[in-house]
Amino acid sequence: MNNEPQIPSTKRLLRTLNGEALWPPPVWLMRQAGRFLPEFRAERAKADFLTRCMTPDIATELTLQPIRRFGMDGAILFSDILILPWAMGQSLEFVESKGPLLSPIRSEADFKRLDRQRIADVTAPVLETLGRLNKIFNGTDTVGVAKPGSTTLLGFTGAPFTVACYMVEGKGSRDFATVRKMAFSETALFDCLIALLTETTTEYLSAQITAGAEAVMLFDSWAGLLPPSEFRRYVIEPTRQIVASLKARHPGVRIVGFPRLGGIMVPEYAEKTGVDVVALDTGTDLKKILPLLPPSVGVQGNLDPIAVLAGGEAMKREALYVREAGKGRAHVFNLGHGVLPQTPVEHVQELIRTIREEP
Ligand code: CP3
Repeated sequence: MNNEPQIPSTKRLLRTLNGEALWPPPVWLMRQAGRFLPEFRAERAKADFLTRCMTPDIATELTLQPIRRFGMDGAILFSDILILPWAMGQSLEFVESKGPLLSPIRSEADFKRLDRQRIADVTAPVLETLGRLNKIFNGTDTVGVAKPGSTTLLGFTGAPFTVACYMVEGKGSRDFATVRKMAFSETALFDCLIALLTETTTEYLSAQITAGAEAVMLFDSWAGLLPPSEFRRYVIEPTRQIVASLKARHPGVRIVGFPRLGGIMVPEYAEKTGVDVVALDTGTDLKKILPLLPPSVGVQGNLDPIAVLAGGEAMKREALYVREAGKGRAHVFNLGHGVLPQTPVEHVQELIRTIREEP
């Protein structure tokens, strides 16, 4: 395969994803390309969200913005987890202050209208963006930002269960009750949806890797809503299948899994899915969970985004706790969830400085 990550790499994030314990840990932040950046808000006025995701000039620029400003070790593709259902023909709109709105999938007829044959064509601009970014970060393009060879390019998708949540509910929700009821009372239909998402997610991530993503992340933001039996069936098992297929096709590729709110199920997730690194949410005590994870699995996380919003001594104290807790393990410093839009830019600057420079 082309675009295999080189091992050993000079990239600190890639080295950590490969299992090395580095000090200080590499750092990037979920939602680092976002509304907290003035240059992002300026770009935002020019086109709607889907257009921004689907225009390589814009998506490349938005991915680079946080790297120019802060020089994070990882750059995450500017895109969204809902691109995949949209690429299969489900309608999608992002409504200011309401979040995403989709035409909900509630019946077999709705499900049958999804068309996986469209994915390759619709997502071609995303793959184009990844190709451009790969050239930039590996020093073969002139608009280079950080030092060539220092930033790792991350692709991503949602994990099947979380994407199914939005597809079935048709919008964001606190409890996704419609989806969870479907899993219990229309299990055959829900199984078909998860199976479709498992296959198409594998294909799409594989295409992202071939296009230039150096590692990939699976966001399972709503994994923790499920009881243990369903967590195994709809979170662990689909993730295991995706990881196994990707590793068979792209030996050496590194995969981060984020079973958000997974709680006591996280060690089983880390053991059984085959992910290289498990991303932890804010509520998980990094010190307490580390001994419960297989030693070969790295961790990512998990500073409270609110601490970054607050800044000052509280942010510093919490950030240093997380950094210290990960010492001696393969640890990617990150937040426990995305950067909040109201976060002052200087707080993020100070956070990166703290992680890299505080003794
Ligand atoms: O910087 C990055 O993290 C890269 C890009 C990225 C976005 N969404 C951009 C985005 C990533 C990795 C995501 C993942 C995503 N999207 C998740 C998983 C992580 C999580 O937050 O739990 C989920 C659940 C979604 C679905 C989604 N997309 C929602 C619920 C919303 C609305 C809420 C919001 O913050 O506005 C989005 C929109 C979205 N995705 C925006 C961005 C920058 C905001 C849209 C805009 O700026 O107009």
